[in-house]
Amino acid sequence: MSESKEVVLKVFRGDPRGGEAKEYTVPVGPGMVVLDAIHHIQGYLSPDLSCRWNCKAAKCGSCSAEVNGKPRLMCKTRIDDFPAGEPITVYPLRAFPLIKDLVTDVSKNYEVNKRIPPFTPAKDVEWKMFQPDVDRVQEFRKCIECFLCQDVCHVIRNHGKLGEFAGPRFFVRLANLDMHPLDSLSRLQFLKEEAGLGYCNITKCCTEVCPEDIHITDNAIIPLKERVATRYYDPLRLLWRKLTGK
Ligand code: SF4
Ligand code: SF4
Ligand code: FES
Repeated sequence: MSESKEVVLKVFRGDPRGGEAKEYTVPVGPGMVVLDAIHHIQGYLSPDLSCRWNCKAAKCGSCSAEVNGKPRLMCKTRIDDFPAGEPITVYPLRAFPLIKDLVTDVSKNYEVNKRIPPFTPAKDVEWKMFQPDVDRVQEFRKCIECFLCQDVCHVIRNHGKLGEFAGPRFFVRLANLDMHPLDSLSRLQFLKEEAGLGYCNITKCCTEVCPEDIHITDNAIIPLKERVATRYYDPLRLLWRKLTGK
């Protein structure tokens, strides 16, 4: 645990044409988080440093960055969690196009989101739910759209498949819809053919970085994979579909 009075931050400075990490020495106060240090740099050392933030309470999902190589919320990452006397690196999310310094263009995520068929209750639905059904989807509703899970997922980060692959954040949304007791649509074909669920090989890296502790793989992705497998690859179902065309 760090008890230093100062900390050195190596912060990426640059834009799509190129850039490099620059060193800043920042005074450390009790309970200080990385976002505080970034604000100190903006306030006293380099006012043109760009970063995105909003709530400073780990709820808006804006201040995502890679701190010492790991995707994290800067406002939830304490300076004293790192070894004293060692510099802390702060880089932008690497899975998305860079705009400037710590700011990236995450808009493609919103394009993916728009393609997901929204909540569609049946016309004559009775607006009544059992508590266990509510509890089951409640976990998914905690998502703050920080996109840390999208950033760490190798299908997006290393293979650039965002678009043909929806990514963990949107599997969470799809699970929320698919498990909603009052929703009437099936999104299994969408999951298989447009959301690229098959690309996910359940490495669980997304779950490890989620600041809301959503069990993305166990509670969203694996059940969705099971539903798709049952719908499209179960031999009895295949036979039934051949016989009935359904
Ligand atoms: S479990 Fe799937 S979605 Fe999550 S990081 Fe791994 S490949 Fe990506
Ligand atoms: S699922 Fe978790 S990591 Fe992914 S966007 Fe939502 S809150 Fe962030
Ligand atoms: S500033 Fe809102 S999550 Fe960090």
